[in-house]
Amino acid sequence: YLNYHVPRTRRDILEILLKGLRRLEYRGYDSAGVGIDGGNEKDWESNARSITLIKQRGKVQALDEEINKQQDIDMDVEFDVHLGIAHTRWATHGAPSPVNSHPHRSDKSNEFIVIHNGIITNYKDLRKFLESKGYEFESETDTETIAKLVKYMYDNRESDEISFATLVERVTQQLEGAFALVFKSVHYPGEAVVTRRGGPLLIGVKSDHKLSTDHIPILYRSSGKDKKGCTTLPRMDQDTCLFPVDEKAVEYYFASDASAVIEHTNRVIFLEDDDVAAVSEGRLSIHRIKRTAGDHPARAIQTLQMELQQIMKGNYSAFMQKEIFEQPESVVNTMRGRVNFDDNTVTLGGLKDHIKEIQRCRRLILIACGTSYHAGVATRQVLEELTELPVMVELASDFLDRNTPVFRDDVCFFISQSGETADSLMALRYCKEQGALTVGVTNTVGSSISRETDCGVHINAGPEIGVASTKAYTSQFVALIMFALLMCDDRISMQPRRCEIIQGLRILPDLIKEVLSLDDEIQKLAQELYQQKSVLIMGRGYHYATCLEGALKIKEITYMHSEGILAGELKHGPLALVDKLMPVIMIIMRDHTYVKCQNALQQVVARQGRPIVICDRDDQETINNSSRTIKVPHCVDCLQGVLSVIPLQLLSFHLAVLRGYDVDCPRNLAKSVTVE
Ligand code: F6R
Repeated sequence: YLNYHVPRTRRDILEILLKGLRRLEYRGYDSAGVGIDGGNEKDWESNARSITLIKQRGKVQALDEEINKQQDIDMDVEFDVHLGIAHTRWATHGAPSPVNSHPHRSDKSNEFIVIHNGIITNYKDLRKFLESKGYEFESETDTETIAKLVKYMYDNRESDEISFATLVERVTQQLEGAFALVFKSVHYPGEAVVTRRGGPLLIGVKSDHKLSTDHIPILYRSSGKDKKGCTTLPRMDQDTCLFPVDEKAVEYYFASDASAVIEHTNRVIFLEDDDVAAVSEGRLSIHRIKRTAGDHPARAIQTLQMELQQIMKGNYSAFMQKEIFEQPESVVNTMRGRVNFDDNTVTLGGLKDHIKEIQRCRRLILIACGTSYHAGVATRQVLEELTELPVMVELASDFLDRNTPVFRDDVCFFISQSGETADSLMALRYCKEQGALTVGVTNTVGSSISRETDCGVHINAGPEIGVASTKAYTSQFVALIMFALLMCDDRISMQPRRCEIIQGLRILPDLIKEVLSLDDEIQKLAQELYQQKSVLIMGRGYHYATCLEGALKIKEITYMHSEGILAGELKHGPLALVDKLMPVIMIIMRDHTYVKCQNALQQVVARQGRPIVICDRDDQETINNSSRTIKVPHCVDCLQGVLSVIPLQLLSFHLAVLRGYDVDCPRNLAKSVTVE
């Protein structure tokens, strides 16, 4: 939402929207669209009484090209107030196509348009109802019902005074599922209304002036009832709004992710579920229907630490590559100010009020999806060792499917890079209902998981844009180890082990650099493997997680079949896959599983397998027994998994490049999975 002194052309406005979409593209990239004011008049109100929609299948670049083809749009017309909305989609209902992409519209004259992240689970019932009222649908999406529903509410309004925010509230009361929504309408020129339930949504506030407040009070609308007894919000006026600051100087950016707004402003407001925020004539207000116990009656304007260069590729060919090479710094950032290598202490500010309670718990449950789940698998053993507690590691979806018993004396960890993964968020709410203490391990400040957990640790890895998670994994790994160290800081018997691990953490960044220097060697290996159909990755103990994570990286960006196999299970089935043609990678490190891993190596070699072995660079025995090795430096056993995974991150990257795929945007996937 732009409201400024110096008018901007339609071309400038589209540029801002497209740039924002490009920053968000990693979250979904199968189609994209924009909705902007349609008029070419002198006054902005007339311009906003019509809406132009442009949509295209494919990436944002395809939308950009489509916009450039539009002959009948005057790109040079200037606006001094303008609201434009844009969306890049990851299909849930309906295949990628222009008609299924967002914004969706209420009718052919675009009276209301809406963009949506999430899934509306009752859309079939709503669609049936609206069809019975004569509304004609053009797409197969759940979102289109929202656009039609808001028009239905408008057409059946009891008074012309009804505000846009009230209409949107009425719509959301009918919706089931998860959503973050942005609305625009020709009936409310220059107004934007946004709301969320289960999907992330933030507002960037840009002003050259000092803002008059750093908190926005919530407006509860228990009062306004109209003649028919329906609650209404008055149209926006001075009394109900946040910013009677110099309104001309304020611009608002609504987005699902801070990376879309950071080049405009670092001041943001994170909305909570069921907040309805509205902007009109430069003023922002946030409403909720009623106040409930525990509600915070204001939303803070926070200053983000994110820098623009963090979300740019720099000299790398892909974000994933950049993020792999950032790991020496990202793990330092995870430890910064928390690990004291001189006196071997660990401090985690986000847990300090709860650590005593955590130390008294009966069980730790680590709940996550995908790569974040693997970080739990990777650290389970050291958590068990240092806390002497039973530790369960759970995939969020399965944990929910099983209605897993959870008790008040359990502590449940939610590990999530984005902090928005729907399955993990649902599991979090479930655990809270059971009375367990909840702890977030997230990378995204202000995310739903970081806000809804009782306490937590930010992994501080910096924005991760590549869909395939890399630096978040190693930082989650380190964060969980720091937690394990904190749990036993007063146990005298544990001190030698604690010191060994803390000193391991100290040298970890340098060891990561050494592993990264193997890049050329791994690229050559990728050249030998890239035409294969399948790769098996075997290991055990601390490295089982590396096998799972390496295999996930390979499948998701190279589309090759890959399986992480627990070496202890080899003879119970997977060994049947091994022959002289099957590519096998084995991880053998000098830890307590070493002898058993050597046995597994022999079993594979005896079936004519020629495994590539990731091993300790001083392990002459393995080097002698293997036809091919990737030699990594040695570290304390429970941290070695940070080093063994990096060759597999690099390998998957090079395989994907050689196979000609878009590394950062693998087909069918999205970075932040806000649907169950
Ligand atoms: C794989 C990957 C996914 C995510 C998973 C959970 O590279 O990125 O498997 O790890 O979708 O996401 P977060 O960590 O955001 O909860």
